[in-house]
Amino acid sequence: TLGLPRRLLAAPPGPLVLEARPGTAQLLTTEEPATAIWGYQGGAPGPLIRARQGDEVAVTLTNRLEVPTTIHWHGIRIENAMDGVAHLTQAPVQPGERFDYRFTVPDAGTFWYHPHVHGSGPQVDRGLSGLLIVDEATPPDVDHDVVLQFDDWRIGQDGQIDTASIGNLHDAAHAGRLGNVLTVNGKDFETVAAKAGDRVRLRVVSSCNARILQLGFGDLDPWIVALDGQPVAPHRLGAGPLILGPAQRVDLIADVVGEPGGRFPIAEVSGEPFEATAIVLDAGEGSAPRADPPPALSANPVSVPSAKPERTVDLVMSGGAMAFLQEARFEGEVLDGRTLATEHGLVWALNGVAGMPEKPLFSARIGEPVAVRMVNDTLFPHSMHVHGHHFVIYDDAGAPLPGLRDTVTVDPRAETTIGLIADNPGKWMIHCHMLEHQAAGMETWFEVL
Ligand code: C2O
Ligand code: CU
Ligand code: CU
Repeated sequence: TLGLPRRLLAAPPGPLVLEARPGTAQLLTTEEPATAIWGYQGGAPGPLIRARQGDEVAVTLTNRLEVPTTIHWHGIRIENAMDGVAHLTQAPVQPGERFDYRFTVPDAGTFWYHPHVHGSGPQVDRGLSGLLIVDEATPPDVDHDVVLQFDDWRIGQDGQIDTASIGNLHDAAHAGRLGNVLTVNGKDFETVAAKAGDRVRLRVVSSCNARILQLGFGDLDPWIVALDGQPVAPHRLGAGPLILGPAQRVDLIADVVGEPGGRFPIAEVSGEPFEATAIVLDAGEGSAPRADPPPALSANPVSVPSAKPERTVDLVMSGGAMAFLQEARFEGEVLDGRTLATEHGLVWALNGVAGMPEKPLFSARIGEPVAVRMVNDTLFPHSMHVHGHHFVIYDDAGAPLPGLRDTVTVDPRAETTIGLIADNPGKWMIHCHMLEHQAAGMETWFEVL
């Protein structure tokens, strides 16, 4: 049974063909020129793929770029051969070639897809990404189900992507590629028309390469109902901004109150204020706000350790601006930071190894609980992502924090311990999702036997 097609934007008969190819997008205001990009079906974001929990998804990738590519299904607990990691789980798809992805989606939630070749940063930079939404068997009762995919772009004076600066050593050695233009759903503004009393589900996604978003929601005070696609007991966002590292997703449910004509701007509040979207009360008669909290989303069949596992693996991040990286191993050789950076473009290391190590970080038996202590010995935050599994994060006392994640931001000079149950056989990556850091060496892998 093909699962795709329930509310697919461009519903093709039969399996979906995603063509990675050049195209254009109206990233800036409509008075400004369209921007040349790379996208699935030539657009940014690519088509929204929508399936139901348990469905089989069938997507054929056709590569119409001049470089090899793949598709990785971020956050989906997928069969290893479909994970889309070039050289680890599949051969890169060469220009002109195609690859058939077929997998079932075990969990409902908000996920996304993007290329995963060595140095996929520049491909994501140029616009290759899209969303995969898996609907719950019984979705919560909402009046609007809205996607807000945030992305930042580095745009030059001519309105085009500043390709000359993509992948430069300075970005790689510092915070990664931060854009100067922020978009939501590939445009400069998104509007959701609602009336008082409406309940809105907001699926907030960051496909930024490196920027850590801080989003404010005005007076909405939404409920957080899922993190990285996995349900969490509904709780209010409260006063603070919503912090979203690269690749993270948060599902919110907001109850709209107010008078017709009112609006609730949703804004990036950390840097230049960017009003991404507004819920506009457009319709006449609304109703009283809902007083009841939203119901919890139905649970997914993910198992994670409830207590901190005995087996702990250390993952120490080092490197950065070259001076900080004394030495690291690369392809078996011990090299100093400057040589790595200038000769290989590698500036970040995990456990002293820059780039994919030959040996896995750890091997685990099926069902084995493993804790990974991530020690950030650098001056930058790193958003560490684990493939094929979701994990809990432990507080300082070793108690699990609410919710599951597939990506966690580890602050500079801090450490975070996560716990997972290694229950998905195969070879899985752990890497920094600040994609310039990954390309610059911050990547490793583990195996589940
Ligand atoms: Cu979203 Cu290994 O990536
Ligand atoms: Cu992933
Ligand atoms: Cu990083």
